Amino acid sequence: MTMKVPRYDYRSQFERLDEFMVELSNMLVDGHYVLSGEVAEFERAFAEYLGCSFVVGVNTGTDALLCSLKTLELQPEDEVITQANTFNATVSAICLAGLKPILVDVNEDTFLMNIDQAMAVAGPRTRVLLPVHLYGKPTPMRELLQECAKRGVELIEDAAQAHGARIEGRRVGTFGVLGCFSFHPSKNLAAAGDGGAIATNRADLQGRLMALRALGQVGQNNHLQVGYNTKLDSIQAKVLSWKLPSLDRWNEQRRSIARSYRERLSDLPLKFQTWDEGEEHVFHLFVIRTEHRERLLEYLQSNSVDAVVRYPVPIHLQPAFSGCGWRKGQFPVAEALARELLCLPTRPNLTIAEVEYVSDCVRSFFKGGASSRDYSIAQTRGES
Ligand SMILES: Cc1ncc(COP(=O)(O)O)c(C=O)c1O
Repeated sequence: MTMKVPRYDYRSQFERLDEFMVELSNMLVDGHYVLSGEVAEFERAFAEYLGCSFVVGVNTGTDALLCSLKTLELQPEDEVITQANTFNATVSAICLAGLKPILVDVNEDTFLMNIDQAMAVAGPRTRVLLPVHLYGKPTPMRELLQECAKRGVELIEDAAQAHGARIEGRRVGTFGVLGCFSFHPSKNLAAAGDGGAIATNRADLQGRLMALRALGQVGQNNHLQVGYNTKLDSIQAKVLSWKLPSLDRWNEQRRSIARSYRERLSDLPLKFQTWDEGEEHVFHLFVIRTEHRERLLEYLQSNSVDAVVRYPVPIHLQPAFSGCGWRKGQFPVAEALARELLCLPTRPNLTIAEVEYVSDCVRSFFKGGASSRDYSIAQTRGES
């Protein structure tokens, strides 16, 4: 029997909804909509949660990256190293900041930045290293931090997919000089619209970021620099503060779902993103790797499983970056992952029955079960 398995369930993210709606309507009639107390309160709470000194709320994760790069006051064409498999925003922000993106490939097993390659391409114009904690898996930080310190390079973390992830107890987003978060509705900590934030331990950077997000304003009508207008919206801050106390529990549920998927799929010809000792992966996405990605995707969707591909085109092959001089074949692991990764539905309240159904669908695809006749690999190979 077919079961519908969606990727999101927003109702379940609002515990005590009636109470929340009362507070929200008070906010609406109160009229303090821009950089109100709700924003300051969320910034305080998120900084405490992360274990860093400051958080500055902005409009999106893309703006968090852009403002972070802008606030370091780099020279045009200074280089920022990042990875070839990430969401477009990581690299767009580098370009929008007037800097030069330098890509490196990723590791076959972690799907994260290849640190050796990053060190090999770092040169005299390299100012920033920008690893992405992709799919919620923390990029190992110890070696990166040492290398950055040795070379005088700043480390900015793209933690847009990794709220709450930890390495040896420390939250990602707090290792680098700046850590960037997105609260897009798809994220582990989701606003009811767009939202973003930057974490830092440096008071000088916090001050600059607060000005930068508000048209360079420090005090009423006193504009010290040319800035952006990119503030975290007060209503979004309220939503985020409401959800934040649940984040660790939700992330634990995501880990438990990942464990269940891995157990149920372990004997199939699939690869998983590695899950290392000492790290707390937060499984923003649960990804599997298979050469049969396109047909499996079609099969799962035809069985009402909301599987999705993140990301089918690696950065260096995106038309937006055609002027950067990258070519097909340059980052072979990123290209293979773009062809072969598939995200199975995951969300904190995915039930065991749903995990079982999705896993059974994947199993029947590979084993050529009755319901999968049209799609099964056995059939493609002409086996009966
Ligand atoms: C890795 C990564 N970086 C940056 C962003 C940009 O965030 P936003 O969509 O809030 O601008 C996202 C999310 O969408 C992301 O997944």
